[in-house]
Amino acid sequence: MTVDLRTRYLGLDLRSPIVASASPLTGVADTARLIEEAGVGAIVLPSLFEEEIVNEEIELSRSLETGSEQFAEALGYFPTIPSFAGVGDRYLSTLERIKSKSAVPVIASLNASTAGGWVRYARLMQDAGADALELNLYRVAADPRRAAADVEESDLELIGSVRDWVSIPVAVKLSPFYSAFAGFARRAVERGADGLVLFNRFYQPDLDLETLDVVSRVDLSRPADLRLPLRWIAILRPQLPAGFSIAATSGIHSGTDVLKALMVGADVAMMTSALLRHGPGHIRTVEAELRAWMTDHDYESVAQLRGSVDHAAAADPSAFERANYMTTLHSWTAPQDGAYPPPA
Ligand SMILES: Cc1cc2nc3c(=O)[nH]c(=O)nc-3n(C[C@H](O)[C@H](O)[C@H](O)COP(=O)(O)O)c2cc1C
Repeated sequence: MTVDLRTRYLGLDLRSPIVASASPLTGVADTARLIEEAGVGAIVLPSLFEEEIVNEEIELSRSLETGSEQFAEALGYFPTIPSFAGVGDRYLSTLERIKSKSAVPVIASLNASTAGGWVRYARLMQDAGADALELNLYRVAADPRRAAADVEESDLELIGSVRDWVSIPVAVKLSPFYSAFAGFARRAVERGADGLVLFNRFYQPDLDLETLDVVSRVDLSRPADLRLPLRWIAILRPQLPAGFSIAATSGIHSGTDVLKALMVGADVAMMTSALLRHGPGHIRTVEAELRAWMTDHDYESVAQLRGSVDHAAAADPSAFERANYMTTLHSWTAPQDGAYPPPA
């Protein structure tokens, strides 16, 4: 039996539901090519950060001011702008290069926390050939004067403002840290999002006890990290409009993980940590695992699999909600005689 892996994501027809999520691997033309050759359905470029664009603009206006103060004839003076290939320009030219060589859709990514003039970069990404845009919302709501509704409204405003700049599809990559996640997801759809990417991983700072420095560490994910996106995709899928796209990200390492993501209703399953750990060729292994399982279980297509165990289809929908908490805690059995470590 041949298995049909085709899927649709953000209005794009993909040959496979396995997608390379944003990472340093996807931002280099040579590795992006290896990832494509290994069989991905689409490639998401690493993010261009709001701070990078804003800093670049501050630097540029500083250098212009310096020029006008130094030279009397400054009206016609333009300091080295033609050679000022900043981070934004470099991003756009990498995007153009990868897109020109790629047979699969290329999704550009913007990481942001506030709306502003810099959002025009969304349009520049579209002009550079991006097939879709991923808006990666990343903030820590640390200001005690701001209520949840206020913070959420800023995020929604940002989604709306990116939507206004582009005609290509926009997916919004979110963290799970919203107090009423389903409600926020619905409002993101109303503001024009075409898809959700669930969930971004927050990298928590650590402490170095010797130097007392706060240190940033990137810890790669484990398959158990998939459980959070699984729960929320299962809950949201039946509630979101038909044709609205959902991508699963966090903890997808194997064919089994891709299957779980699709079964709860994701259109694509994204991978970063597994590719960083095993290299681009790992996509072939994951695809082979996916095909083998589907063949063994008589599934002919991804379409047939998708959503077969979402919140509405599950035999016990409460398993995705609160009842699951109690059952899970009660499933832990302490060793009878109190001996540790417990026998395996
Ligand atoms: C080194 C590294 C760089 C990343 N860079 C980005 C990025 O630029 N933009 C983004 O949206 N996500 C970025 N991510 C997050 C990944 O795209 C992905 O969502 C996350 O790692 C969870 O997936 P995983 O479990 O397959 O790693 C990065 C992750 C890693 C490990």
